[in-house]
Amino acid sequence: MEDFLAISECSTDELTGLLEESRSLKALYKAGQRDLCLAGKTLAMLFEKPSLRTRISFQVAMTDLGGSPIYVKPEDIGGIGKREPVKDIARVLSRYVHGIMARTFEHRTVIDLAKYADVPVINALTDWSHPCQAMADVLTIVEHFDRIEGITIAYIGDGNNVARSLAFAAGKLGMKLVVASPPGYELDSASMETANHFAPGCVTQLDDPRAAVADADVIYTDTWVSMGQEDEKEKRRKEFAGFEVNADLVAAAPKHVKIMHCLPAYRGFEISDEVTESPNSIVFDQAENRLHFQRALLRKLMS
Ligand code: CP
Ligand code: NVA
Repeated sequence: MEDFLAISECSTDELTGLLEESRSLKALYKAGQRDLCLAGKTLAMLFEKPSLRTRISFQVAMTDLGGSPIYVKPEDIGGIGKREPVKDIARVLSRYVHGIMARTFEHRTVIDLAKYADVPVINALTDWSHPCQAMADVLTIVEHFDRIEGITIAYIGDGNNVARSLAFAAGKLGMKLVVASPPGYELDSASMETANHFAPGCVTQLDDPRAAVADADVIYTDTWVSMGQEDEKEKRRKEFAGFEVNADLVAAAPKHVKIMHCLPAYRGFEISDEVTESPNSIVFDQAENRLHFQRALLRKLMS
């Protein structure tokens, strides 16, 4: 494993290895111990979009391992691919740092960074995928259910970057993903095919949220308005009507169902405040596990 750009590019063994490593490093750090395997190493963190969880959890993970993170705003470097080509940024950074993580609009940007960099490149969210999120989510599921195999996730809402990474995780790790979206917002058919190629029938697309949650172990949702889609907010709010994860929808699921959201959550849109705050909600465990997964990822790629 040289880079971490998409779950679809990783083997099942690599993913399960990362999950095991996440759990053991989590236990180590919870016990107050440290593994300074990245002492003297530096990670450049390029962000074209805002972030709370990703930025802070990567900075903490890097510091935890003895390394140094450098946060780079696009305006600091005149924009990614604007002041100079992405391929030049990749090659220059490779002369200074030991790893690059990037949150970009176009997925092509992280592919080009990885192509031209001599150091590992990590996808910290693109319009196409959010693999660190999906792996932290799987880690959270393992902790709550003590298994991954056979878990059914009902994903309600936009067939976006988060849904796509969950679909690939389902295909690689033996879960089922049932996506329910309004017309025009389904998970794209190429991604469905990719996931179902890994494990036939692991991902299905419906238009009825109640049918989707009927056998769910987990109900998952994400914003209806991803970063960069702010101009479509009013249109999307109307078109996603009926897809809110609220108490009525949760009542249609099995009693043991857990509620997941990658955050930030727009309460009263894709999820109600009541459901976000309910005892079944594990959204903050997910947020915490970003740190534990990424510590393991940095260790694997950079040590
Ligand atoms: N879930 C997530 O990636 O959050 P941030 O946008 O705050 O990093
Ligand atoms: N789908 C959202 C995820 C935010 C963590 C976005 O891309 O903005």
